[in-house]
Amino acid sequence: MFDKNDLKIKPIEKTETIPSNWYCDGNIFSLEKEAVFSSNWQYAGHIEEIKDRTNSFQIDIAGNPVIIFKNDENELTAFYNVCRHRGGPLNLLNSGKKTVLQCGYHGWTYKLDGQLRGMPRFNRVELFDKSEHCLTPVKTELWEGLVFVNLNNEAVPISNQISKIAEEIKPNNLEHKKHYKRVEYNIKCNWKIYVDNYLEGYHLPYVHPELCDFLDYREYKTIVSEFYSLQYSPINNKKNFYKGEGGAYYYFIYPNLMLNILPCRLQINQIIPISERETLVKFDYFYDDIETKEGLKSIKTDILMSDKIQFEDIEICEKVQKGVSSNVYKKGRLSVECETGVHHFQNLLRKDYISYSNNS
Ligand code: FES
Ligand SMILES: [Fe+2]
Repeated sequence: MFDKNDLKIKPIEKTETIPSNWYCDGNIFSLEKEAVFSSNWQYAGHIEEIKDRTNSFQIDIAGNPVIIFKNDENELTAFYNVCRHRGGPLNLLNSGKKTVLQCGYHGWTYKLDGQLRGMPRFNRVELFDKSEHCLTPVKTELWEGLVFVNLNNEAVPISNQISKIAEEIKPNNLEHKKHYKRVEYNIKCNWKIYVDNYLEGYHLPYVHPELCDFLDYREYKTIVSEFYSLQYSPINNKKNFYKGEGGAYYYFIYPNLMLNILPCRLQINQIIPISERETLVKFDYFYDDIETKEGLKSIKTDILMSDKIQFEDIEICEKVQKGVSSNVYKKGRLSVECETGVHHFQNLLRKDYISYSNNS
């Protein structure tokens, strides 16, 4: 499926981009489910959303349903959301004091540690051992108020991978932000086109001239770490409508999460592949202040600006998908000055493809 040359890791000065077929080929799209999305940390949501015991996250990771909630000891717990009877979906059920997981198909119940508890009308079944029908656990972790899951049981803790971010953004505190709104966008491009586009400020003067004005673009820089990269820019003081000072931090956490941190606000973007040419992008907006008049005014301006930028990005990404799918485009080159984030992402991808190919 791969040309060996495309998998070679080279310095940015010498490398070519990943090839066009990686953005269009259905076989590569299927392979990525295993090679990328089943082996790296995936964002499930903000801990605030499951504060209430009856709430859970129900997400899909590379075609696998997963349920995440807090157990009676207040510990974060995750299972494949797949009943051991005939694969039905589970929900948290609170009956007075006890909370259990109940299947929505035929009512089997499980304790919050995954053990099978009860099966209605199941009396004459022979050689059935309840202990062999527990739910399958999934690795989960809380970092700065954000809940992550990983289908790979051997995964390195995400807090080890991104611990420095919390230090870098101090005094901004992600854990205490309040959720304001979620917006979803369906985009007709491969998920990697959207990620590539996020990872460089090269396109700002041409695609987002207003954003260029808002940021102090001359100071825009990209810093890469092992599993994440940061694009940082000071904000042009004359244009800053946020309460508080500080710059704009655009973090990319491999493979598909973005934390856009500005004074008093956190915007989380999650990039979810739907097909080789279709992507769902979820935006979650969090702010320090979602109550005062002043706070709400800056939220309104923030969302308007963000929405405009997003539509500009969608338009260019959909056109780029057509460009890379055309007969003439095979591979490109990267700007050493402006595209180190793209280079970093594409190399992590190459590494995942290589380790997947070696193990299969
Ligand atoms: S599939 Fe869950 S109870 Fe039947
Ligand atoms: Fe953009």
